[in-house]
Amino acid sequence: MIKTGNYVHIAPGVELGEDVTIGDFTIIHSGVTIGDRTRIGTHCVIGEPCNVNMKTRVAANPWFKQFVMPAECVIGEDSIINSHATIQSHVRLGKRFVLGSYAMVRGHASVGDYTTLATRGLMQCAVKVGRNNHFSAGTIITSSMIVKDGCFTGGYVLFSENKYLIFDYARVKGPIIENYVRIGNLASIIGDVVVGEYSIIGGSAIITKDVPPRMVAVGINNYRRTVTDEEVQEYLQTVRHRAPQSQASDLQ
Ligand SMILES: CC(C)(COP(=O)(O)OP(=O)(O)OC[C@H]1O[C@@H](n2cnc3c(N)ncnc32)[C@H](O)[C@@H]1OP(=O)(O)O)[C@@H](O)C(=O)NCCC(=O)NCCS
Repeated sequence: MIKTGNYVHIAPGVELGEDVTIGDFTIIHSGVTIGDRTRIGTHCVIGEPCNVNMKTRVAANPWFKQFVMPAECVIGEDSIINSHATIQSHVRLGKRFVLGSYAMVRGHASVGDYTTLATRGLMQCAVKVGRNNHFSAGTIITSSMIVKDGCFTGGYVLFSENKYLIFDYARVKGPIIENYVRIGNLASIIGDVVVGEYSIIGGSAIITKDVPPRMVAVGINNYRRTVTDEEVQEYLQTVRHRAPQSQASDLQ
């Protein structure tokens, strides 16, 4: 059974799974598929076209041609999209995805199962995010960057792909965050850097260079010590809790 609130607009061509709930004033554009039992809050916009100036961008970089593909947007089963959230077109979200209030996922993002982007978070265009990640409030995941599995960010973490502050798409490249990385509140990870598996980045750190696996980094590229086995195990226990028991066995 589908439960919809007042003033909901569902365009022709939307596919709704079983037991989907949709709050007041929400708009769902054509080409969207929503998985079973997903709950969508009030005032959400799902599947809206990306706000890019196609002619200029395609001329500048053929990479943007993908934005003219037919509309397609999939939200996995048991997801929760909170009120005032926006999901643009060509987005693929895994099951049990949670999107906080006023958060936004821009076009062509792809996100694995059991991932949360909390209140006012932003996933920019064409990001690739794995499963079991938790991004706390206000985190900005920059265009085209990659986050693998089981990562955690505190609030207002900022990833930046535009190190040189110019719109030259050939030079824009975002960070790669390997599996099980943790990043404290307000940290900035700038440019084409790799943060290695199990690393911990301290609150308010500024990272502009690669961080080796299992490293604790604080301040400006300051590597303090390695992460212990106990710290890794303790963290993995909490990551397992993000997935239901039936899925926990396939986590490392
Ligand atoms: C980095 C962190 C993980 C602790 O690592 P740790 O190795 O256990 O650090 P310690 O507390 O033993 O401190 C070691 C040194 O690093 C310094 N330090 C710790 N965290 C720091 C930070 N974020 N920035 C700068 N220096 C820091 C300490 O002052 C200490 O310096 P000293 O050797 O000169 O006395 C932790 O301090 C941190 O920043 N956590 C993130 C918290 C957060 O943002 N949580 C989000 C909640 S949603």
